Amino acid sequence: MNEIEQYQKTINEFIAQNKFSKFPHELYEPLDYIMALGGKRMRPVMVMMACDLLNGKMEDAVPAAMAIETFHNFTLIHDDIMDNAPVRRGKITVHEKWNVNTAILSGDVMLIEAYALLMRYENDLLRQILTIFNKSAIEVCEGQQIDMNFENRIDVTLDEYIHMITLKTAVVLGASLEVGALIAGVSPKQAHHLYEFGRNMGIAFQLRDDYLDLYADPEKFGKQVGGDVISNKKTFMLIKALELAKDNDAITLNKWLQAPTFNASEKVEAIKNIFDQLSIPQLLNDAVASYANLAWKEFEQIEAAEDKKKIMSDFMKGLLAREV
Ligand code: IPE
Ligand code: IPE
Ligand code: MG
Ligand code: MG
Ligand code: MG
Repeated sequence: MNEIEQYQKTINEFIAQNKFSKFPHELYEPLDYIMALGGKRMRPVMVMMACDLLNGKMEDAVPAAMAIETFHNFTLIHDDIMDNAPVRRGKITVHEKWNVNTAILSGDVMLIEAYALLMRYENDLLRQILTIFNKSAIEVCEGQQIDMNFENRIDVTLDEYIHMITLKTAVVLGASLEVGALIAGVSPKQAHHLYEFGRNMGIAFQLRDDYLDLYADPEKFGKQVGGDVISNKKTFMLIKALELAKDNDAITLNKWLQAPTFNASEKVEAIKNIFDQLSIPQLLNDAVASYANLAWKEFEQIEAAEDKKKIMSDFMKGLLAREV
């Protein structure tokens, strides 16, 4: 078993051994349901990996790793309500399996459970962790609101989009690494290089998430393919297509964005065809590579043993090429 698998095993065992199953069951069952569905567990892996990279004790990172994974799962439950998503990790979403009210309240209690896990740290370290955790959690809410605002606009710029995905996604990846580094006890300056590394990787990660939303293999993906197109999400791909489309393509694109959707699969196919004609997937890959490059520059600044740095760089390369 390699280090990453070891971290994932630790997280999965913690989840299996710390089921919420309490009264009232209607409140807690969705927590156990979503946590048991798995997912990549990349955020807790990043907390533990950063702690290990900087010579901290792996056990010390587990509560923070679990807190961030619990927080992440809360955001997924609420995100699926907002995005009207039917499927998550290959299974029916919480708001569809139960109902929207349950999904709201179960998500709320999950956020508080994340804080309860952080209470296992003491004094100065707790304050340091909470400072970064609170800032990132607020930014996620801001990013999520901006993401929804953009559904009703057609003039969103690439800079606005990058700002939005930085808030809704990238900061949590940065925070995961920074928190792991703080637990290892490094200087705030070193910890900040890890944050910046994670933040830039997080932008690349969300760019790829948007690509996969349309181009993933539906058998493997675990989410509805085409959901972003159906809800007029302003992704890198759509913004680029609006910029580059001419004549009939421009008319078709604007027609689909403005008309109510009667036939979702027809809309998804039509927009995907335009993206293909404009070589948008290639442009997206270039954008992923350019944010990954910014991340690698930060990575060079991190002072740690080369063999441990390799574990982290291999893990990140895997994330950039992910299919799910
Ligand atoms: C999904 O995150 C939400 C985004 C920020 C794109 P992940 O892709 O990490 O989801 P899981 O946890 O692996 O299911
Ligand atoms: C959501 O981004 C980010 C958060 C959950 C905060 P998406 O809406 O793209 O995530 P998926 O694709 O549903 O996982
Ligand atoms: Mg969303
Ligand atoms: Mg979503
Ligand atoms: Mg997505």
